[in-house]
Amino acid sequence: MKSSPAWRLGIKDMQIMPGSRQRGPLRKPTWIIVLVSLVSLFLVFAYVYPPQNSAACYVFSSRGCKGMPRWLPPSPVRELTDEEIAARVVITDILNMPSAIPTTPKIAFLFLTPGALPFEKLWDKFFQGHEGRFSVYVHASKDKPLHFSRYFINREIRSSSVVWGKISMVDAERRLLGHALKDPGNQHFVLLSDSCIPLRDFDFVYNYLMYTNVSFVDCFEDPGPHGSGRYSENMLPEVEKQDFRKGAQWFTMKRQHAVIVMADNLYYSKFRDYCRPGMEKGRNCYSDEHYLPTFFYMLDPVGIANWSVTHVDWSEGKWHPKSYRALDVTYDLMRNITSISDSVHVTSEEKKQVQITPCLWNGNPRPCYLFARKFLPETLDNLIQLFPNYTSI
Ligand SMILES: *[C@@H]1O[C@H](CO)[C@@H](O)[C@H](O)[C@H]1NC(C)=O
Ligand SMILES: *[C@@H]1O[C@H](CO)[C@@H](O)[C@H](O)[C@H]1NC(C)=O
Ligand SMILES: *[C@@H]1O[C@H](CO)[C@@H](O)[C@H](O)[C@H]1NC(C)=O
Ligand SMILES: *[C@@H]1O[C@H](CO)[C@@H](O)[C@H](O)[C@H]1NC(C)=O
Repeated sequence: MKSSPAWRLGIKDMQIMPGSRQRGPLRKPTWIIVLVSLVSLFLVFAYVYPPQNSAACYVFSSRGCKGMPRWLPPSPVRELTDEEIAARVVITDILNMPSAIPTTPKIAFLFLTPGALPFEKLWDKFFQGHEGRFSVYVHASKDKPLHFSRYFINREIRSSSVVWGKISMVDAERRLLGHALKDPGNQHFVLLSDSCIPLRDFDFVYNYLMYTNVSFVDCFEDPGPHGSGRYSENMLPEVEKQDFRKGAQWFTMKRQHAVIVMADNLYYSKFRDYCRPGMEKGRNCYSDEHYLPTFFYMLDPVGIANWSVTHVDWSEGKWHPKSYRALDVTYDLMRNITSISDSVHVTSEEKKQVQITPCLWNGNPRPCYLFARKFLPETLDNLIQLFPNYTSI
């Protein structure tokens, strides 16, 4: 019985009373008994009917209400629309369905590129000897690439042009997922760009992704202008500002998650219509940075790791992340990147809060990254030379 400590406290205080009764005049103990009883009753009442607002939470527990989500006031009950109910039953059902795991599950590598893939030779080395445990799909949105590796030949899907920051980017991601889902052997899906390289050998990547139940979708709350500042109230009622999240687009996703992304039209259409560059009042919103983080935060928050396994270096604080040149690529650099074990998110308001979270894989601390970007094509030779060494750090 959860409320017993409060009861016991009441009883214990009552038992002390007879002792004090002998010393003072009769009226005082009676007064104290009444007061103590009232306080006890109040405590019991407060325990059974927890406080409903945050100020009260603060009074009752120094941890506030955060440590006890059950105590949070239920979000104002809003009647869901028909579309929301439809979306939620389909999504919940898919998430609860036991998945039929094929005998040799495969990882689908989805390459989103304008044209040629400068690191095909490196990926070829990465894939070699692991036939049957992976598949490759290429979405070349501008130029049809010439391929050098047998793993990439004839792996292009029908593609459409992609404009940076626009919904066409999300469309291309969904197109890649859709094609890859046609093969029931594909159980995990990895989105990669033309500037991405593998940081680990194939077995490491395979085991890291296959033997966990989460998708590595980057997701954090940024209250600043490049986070919630991009939210538009036109997304109401389905997407509330408090649920709006941000994250890098380079995901890995388990099959169930890929299916619910395919199944979603409701939340997708909100972002398509109301999260665009150059929206109202010169505000910019980029669906590829907000749609999936927000979608998963709303519908399966515990199903995602909240960080991306693709490393990128934003430490220069510029508009674009650091691009690695040939002379940057050394054993030291690769060792540094592969040994990172905390994920870092920086918010965009003036305070620039830094959120550091250890990367936990099935509850245990592990290095965060399997892939990295942005590498310039000129780094290829160095990477090929270093590849067998740095992946085994
Ligand atoms: C994944 O989920 C399944 C089913 O709920 C469970 O049996 C398994 O232990 C989980 N695996 C990990 C690595 O958490
Ligand atoms: C990701 O963040 C959500 C809250 O946003 C949390 O509920 C979930 O447990 C986190 N995932 C992991 C694997 O820690
Ligand atoms: C690697 O990390 C060490 C220690 O933080 C640092 O001194 C060094 O400059 C880094 N090297 C590269 C190439 O990033
Ligand atoms: C990488 O490994 C090869 C042989 O496995 C060795 O000859 C070479 O010196 C190593 N390079 C570095 C930078 O450790």
